[in-house]
Amino acid sequence: LASTEVDLTPIAVGQAVTVVWRGKPVFVRHRTPEEIEVARATPLSQLKDPATDQSRVQREGWLVVVGVCTHLGCVPLGQKPTDAKGDYNGWFCPCHGSHYDTSGRIRVGPAPLNLAVPDYSFTSDTQIRIG
Ligand code: FES
Repeated sequence: LASTEVDLTPIAVGQAVTVVWRGKPVFVRHRTPEEIEVARATPLSQLKDPATDQSRVQREGWLVVVGVCTHLGCVPLGQKPTDAKGDYNGWFCPCHGSHYDTSGRIRVGPAPLNLAVPDYSFTSDTQIRIG
């Protein structure tokens, strides 16, 4: 399928789901107010691949990123409540130790770029279409 619909209704604040889009995992995280605040308070000077949190989300509560590490393509941990989320409370790639923040931005480790934001749109307040 060229596009993937995701119903956001069952995803509570603090939870995340993984969906498949064009054969790749896409992470959809319903961020907590603290996660949003920390992402927005981070100075661009601290970022390896500088991007504001605002430029990476359409609605601040919802982060949608391709779940493929930009180093060598492993799937980072951080989706399950029991997963290691890394030093920046986002995702941790166990392959070579890349840490991503609550905006999916690379903070530490060999990955050169932030987790990619796919093309998506809100088709209603509770649904997105990826692709
Ligand atoms: Fe993720 Fe190397 S593939 S750190």
